[in-house]
Amino acid sequence: MIPEPAPTLKQLLAFYLEAGVDCALAEEPVNRLAEPEPVPAPREAPPIEVTPVGIKRSVAAPAVLRSEAATPPDVAIASAREAARTAPTLEALRELMDKFEGCALKYTATRLVFADGNPEARIMFVGEAPGRDEDLEGLPFVGRSGKLLDRMIGAIGLDRGTAYIANVIPWRPPGNRTPTPQETQICLPFIRRQIELVDPDLLITLGNPSTQALLGTREGIMRTRGRWFDYDTGTRVIRALPTFHPAYLLRSPGYKRLAWQDLRAIARALEQAKSSS
Ligand code: URA
Repeated sequence: MIPEPAPTLKQLLAFYLEAGVDCALAEEPVNRLAEPEPVPAPREAPPIEVTPVGIKRSVAAPAVLRSEAATPPDVAIASAREAARTAPTLEALRELMDKFEGCALKYTATRLVFADGNPEARIMFVGEAPGRDEDLEGLPFVGRSGKLLDRMIGAIGLDRGTAYIANVIPWRPPGNRTPTPQETQICLPFIRRQIELVDPDLLITLGNPSTQALLGTREGIMRTRGRWFDYDTGTRVIRALPTFHPAYLLRSPGYKRLAWQDLRAIARALEQAKSSS
């Protein structure tokens, strides 16, 4: 067999970009295979102080990347719940989330991606997590799938002045990887509180991850899309409709026909909500 020539640097970089690896997490590359066996954790963990906005180590933490200084997920979830519960307004919630230290994604992302659109809107769209463009701009759905989302909502007479847009996860997972179940659980109290504070008439979940996280279903998007659910904010029940994520529609344009059916159902429900208010 003739050996393949080694890839050039340019080809390697192109490969990494294609695979979604477009940011460096540390100054120097780390060869994980050459690392010594991990030392077992000490029996007594250093005491940690839980504050409403996050977790602070009260003694010097070992020299590890902050993203690797894993806060136990149950502590982080409890801390997120407490922080979200105490936020009286969207602005206060944004500030609390900016200071929250319980989610490791914060330390690999460039910035918090809180929301875009009109907080007074009667309709709220929720996606999964920011990608590269969103991470750079600090706004949800501004990349390719965001452009399609704008066209989709434009087709029923909406735009970012009449809709509110956010994500379940407000920090970009490195390389656009899928958020872990723990990361989703940690971030859930924040998006739940955000929905409660916006208090829309209609909630639209975009794609499987946000549908499953917010509507508590284990069914896939092919079964849930176009079906109305009740979403309980804790203060009232609002109508929720899952539909396809625009990124999925970019990959599988054949499903745009079904997405169009969902958009028409959304337009009808908005009319109903308007006439009954
Ligand atoms: N995909 C999402 O789910 N959210 C964004 O903000 C961008 C892409």
